[in-house]
Amino acid sequence: MKPILIVYASRDGQAVRIAQKLALHLNAYPVQLADLKTPPEQIVACKALIVIASVRYGRHLPEAIQFFKRHAAQISQLPLAITSVSLSARKGDGSPNGYLKKLLQQFQLSPFAALSIAGKLNYPRYSWLDRQIIRLIMHITGGPSDGTSCVEYTDWLQLQNFAQQITTHLRQDHADG
Ligand SMILES: Cc1cc2nc3c(=O)[nH]c(=O)nc-3n(C[C@H](O)[C@H](O)[C@H](O)COP(=O)(O)O)c2cc1C
Repeated sequence: MKPILIVYASRDGQAVRIAQKLALHLNAYPVQLADLKTPPEQIVACKALIVIASVRYGRHLPEAIQFFKRHAAQISQLPLAITSVSLSARKGDGSPNGYLKKLLQQFQLSPFAALSIAGKLNYPRYSWLDRQIIRLIMHITGGPSDGTSCVEYTDWLQLQNFAQQITTHLRQDHADG
C-alpha cells in the first residue's frame, strides 16, 4: 500500500509534535514523516500528501514555501491536506485563517482538508529580540506578555477531527476506485 506522506516545517518543535500526533491518528495506514529541511526526492508515490508548516513573522517557514514552489506540478496531482501552525490560530475554530488562506491563494492549492491550528508560546526558547516582538504581539492580542510563560495552545481535538477528515476522504477515494 502506498504511504501517506506527512511533511513538516518547524523551528521550535510544535509542528513536529503535531505531525507525529497526526501520524498516530492515521496509524491504520503506512505513514512516512519527513522534515522539509531535507525533503524527500519522490512525492508522487504516496496515497496522500499532508503538509504541516508553522508561521514565523507573518509567513509560513521558507522550506514549506520552497516545497510548494518546487513540487507544484506533482502536488496538484495528489490528494492534499494542509495544517498551518501559528499563535493567532488560538483565537480561531480551526478553519483557515489569513495566513493559510494566503498560502492557498499564492499556490492555487485546493486541499481536501485545511486546518489552522494553534501552536505553542515558549518564551524561554526565544532570542532576546524575538521575545520582545512576541511579547508585543501577545500584549496586543491579549495573551501572556511576561516574557517567561510557556503555554501550549494546540487544540488536540481539532487535530483528531482533521485526521478523521483525512481517513473519511481516503476511504471515499478508495470506494470511488
Ligand atoms: C520568531 C517568531 C515569530 C512568530 N511569528 C508569528 C506570527 O507572525 N503569527 C503568529 O500567529 N504566530 C507567530 N509565531 C508563533 C509560532 O507560529 C508558534 O510558536 C508555533 O507553535 C511555532 O511552531 P514551531 O514550534 O513548529 O516552530 C512566531 C513565533 C516566533 C518564535
